[in-house]
Formats: sequence, structure tokens, C-alpha cells
Amino acid sequence: MFNKDTFENKLATSWLGRSLYFFEELPSTNTFAKKLKEDGVLHGTLVLTDVQSRGRGQHEHEWIVEPGQNLTFSLVFQPGNANRLNLLTLTCALSVKDTIENLTGVDAQIKWPNDVLVKGKKLCGILTETVFIGNKLDRVVVGIGLNVNQQKFSGEALKGATSLKIETGDDLNRESLLAHLVQDIEYKYRLWSQQDAELLKNINRSLTGYGKWVSLKVDGKQLPGKFKFLGANTNGELIALNSDLDVKSFAFEQVRVVPL
Ligand code: BTN
Repeated sequence: MFNKDTFENKLATSWLGRSLYFFEELPSTNTFAKKLKEDGVLHGTLVLTDVQSRGRGQHEHEWIVEPGQNLTFSLVFQPGNANRLNLLTLTCALSVKDTIENLTGVDAQIKWPNDVLVKGKKLCGILTETVFIGNKLDRVVVGIGLNVNQQKFSGEALKGATSLKIETGDDLNRESLLAHLVQDIEYKYRLWSQQDAELLKNINRSLTGYGKWVSLKVDGKQLPGKFKFLGANTNGELIALNSDLDVKSFAFEQVRVVPL
């Protein structure tokens, strides 16, 4: 069982996770965070559950993991506008990568646009959603599913996935891991909001296929020819060179990078 008090005692942030909704069981932390009334939401709210019964993943897939083994949570940010949210997702992915490397030594990569992989297997998925009131952005919900102590995976979203337990052989303390991760996201959120150039470089260096010739799929269709993958630009668009050396940019959501 995840211990909320232990987690709160370990949490050393100034604003992220200070407003906490913890549930032993919840259909989906993202759905809960999106449905919160305006006066129930603070910038930095954390929604966390130990048993997520109807977790949602990318492409309408279900995110089904064993109860009490992993981290399933959502962070609520109120950045004021919807600019560069793709980079916010990648920033959180970089925090996952850096935190697990620091704590366990496991080497991870970010798979465009929102997964963290270890040796090509999925360790973590991120689902970023927005809530608008009228045409104004009210909040961004970044939902993170990190595989920690589970040892077998099935289902569309997680077939062949890995976990920290599989990679290290050790059971990890989830309270401590989450406290470190939330602290790192708080730090990197500031870099993101300041448009820090080093942050973008670190994200790009961590992307699988960065600097390599790859195929690109847009809306599920493979584009002709090959592309040199140059990572994300400051707007979070994917930048690539085609074989005629023209620079092409692609909107975040539509494009997938396929290694050659
Ligand atoms: C993916 O398909 O890779 C994204 C998975 C995102 C899962 C997380 S678990 C916490 C949060 N709540 C949800 O319902 N989904 C996200």
C-alpha cells in the first residue's frame, strides 16, 4: 500500500504536490484532475492513486497496471497559456529519465512524443491533457504512469513493457521515488517556463534516434524517404532534415519517429 504520510514527509518541494488528492482507488487520476471544479485546483496540485481502475493512455488505449505496484498520478499546472505544452510533456519525461538514473542507475531514453523507454521497452507513459474555460486555458493535466515493481505486463498500451524491478531486480520504495520525481519536475518546470536553452538540449540529447536517419510517420502514414532527426525546437515541434537537406517541422501530436 502506498503510504501518503511517508510520501508527504519526504516531499521537499515548495509548490508542486503541496495540494494533494490521494485516493486508495480511483478510475483515472487524469479524469479526476480534469473534472475538479475551478476552486478545487491550484497550480501544482497532485492527484495520486494506488489503484487506478480505468487508467487512460494514448490513442484511447486503456492503461491497465497491477494495483499497489506502480506510480499512477497527475500533476496540474496553470501556466496561463497553451504555448509550448509539448515541451512541458518532454520536460516531465526528462525528469523521469533523470530521476530514475540518479536513484537506480538505469539508463533510459525519451521516445518522441511522450514515452520513457529502457532498452527499447516502455517504462513510463505520459498523457497530457488540457482544460479550457471559454477560449482561455484553465489547466494542463500531465498524467504519468511509471512502472515500478510490477513484473508482467499485458494489454495494448503495455505489452512487452518493463519496470524498475525488472531492470534492477530490486523492489523500489515508491514514496521516496515519487518525492524525488516531483521535486525534479518542480525544478525543471521553472527551466521550461524560462525557456532555458540547456533544458531543450538535454531533452534532445535524450531522444531516441536524435541525430540519426529515421523514417517519419505522420497520422499513421509513413512519409517517403528518410529524415535526419534533429529533435524538438523551442515550440516543441519536431525538426528533421529530408534527404535534399531541407529543414522540415512537424506538429507534435501527429508525428512518430521510426528507427531505420
Ligand atoms: C501512454 O499511453 O503511454 C500514456 C499513459 C498515461 C497513464 C497515466 S497513469 C496516471 C494518469 N491517469 C490516467 O488515466 N492516465 C495517466
